[in-house]
Amino acid sequence: MASKYDHIYDQLQEYREKNLYRELSITQIKDNSFYLRKKKVINLGSNDYLGLSQNTTILSKIRDSIKQVSPCSSRLISGTSINVIKLERILANHRSSENALIYPTGYMANLGVLTTISSKEHTIFSDSLNHSSIIDACRLSKSNNIKIFQHNDLDHLEKLLKHSHTKKIIVTEGVFSMDGDIARLDMLTELAKKYDSILILDDAHSDFVFGNFGNNGGISESFGVENDVDIHISSLSKGLGCFGGYVASSNLITEILINKSRQFIYTSAIPEYLCLAAITAVSFLRKNKNIQQKFFVKIKWFIDQLNQLGFNIGTTSSQIIPIIIGDEKVASNFSKELFKKGIFIQAIRFPTVALGKARLRISLNTSLQETHLEYVINCLDKLGKKYNII
Ligand SMILES: Cc1ncc(COP(=O)(O)O)c(C=O)c1O
Repeated sequence: MASKYDHIYDQLQEYREKNLYRELSITQIKDNSFYLRKKKVINLGSNDYLGLSQNTTILSKIRDSIKQVSPCSSRLISGTSINVIKLERILANHRSSENALIYPTGYMANLGVLTTISSKEHTIFSDSLNHSSIIDACRLSKSNNIKIFQHNDLDHLEKLLKHSHTKKIIVTEGVFSMDGDIARLDMLTELAKKYDSILILDDAHSDFVFGNFGNNGGISESFGVENDVDIHISSLSKGLGCFGGYVASSNLITEILINKSRQFIYTSAIPEYLCLAAITAVSFLRKNKNIQQKFFVKIKWFIDQLNQLGFNIGTTSSQIIPIIIGDEKVASNFSKELFKKGIFIQAIRFPTVALGKARLRISLNTSLQETHLEYVINCLDKLGKKYNII
């Protein structure tokens, strides 16, 4: 008999048949170790790149000062605490921008910016590998014209820009979240200037990791073009190990976001203790400049090992390292076998990446010790051979 939920049953069945079905797993931290489905594993699936989410200085700071779980109000009503403002000033300074505005998440920051600053007269030019939050932001924007340029292909982007006679917005990630490669920001800023386009950079994965040691202002700082990016968007839940999202830009952009961004106005403010955690994390990094230096040595070693073994890891040059497999089922099985060996590496499948481009997405973090990494390389070598990938 037909049911009103038939389309949902059918959809779930289709996901199962195509090896695209997703399930939640319970995770736990016990005695500084990570447990997935009650099994202690080496975690290569977290965006806590600098290990700050478990940093004892940060934890004790918020433990001692927490007075309220949540402001239970939006920013414009009664949710703008002193620590939100303090953090916004720190983030503006960190990004060399006039101002910064915190959103509850990076996802909402992306939606907020593109839906607020675009109009029907704008064409948005978006890299083909941009994160889903940017894709959703483009879909929700006021623009009727979204042009996707081939990944990091600036000749293609320029062709599209040349043929467009509208107002323009270019949007890219800094370090690409599923490939770990880096946007060609030096040339993107040139193109943005040449075609009088607004340039938006979602720097979620390089913020606090890349850039000048101590400030770690992300990819735009590495390229020395931080002042040529109109709008920086980032997440606090990656390099900084905290929670939340932010937009760093001019006073003008901040003002319009406060007045018009529905993702800013119609939602509860970030809790103050999370802002305090982020403030403490930033000052911790400023005092411990060698964290990043050591991290990059680790990243280079790991990438070299995978290259020597013959894995296809694309063109990564960051802590995000994909092992590109292609077939969804093989990627899932590979990940399951790694789990049995005490290693967690997530298999990433459609729609996060294109169909037929499934991969193991490794994200390295500073908490991983040499012995862990050697063990992971050893297991990847054995399983890579078993699955005929190397
Ligand atoms: C490139 C990029 N932008 C934005 C986000 C969203 O950030 P948040 O987790 O703070 O919502 C992510 C999350 O993974 C991301 O990878």
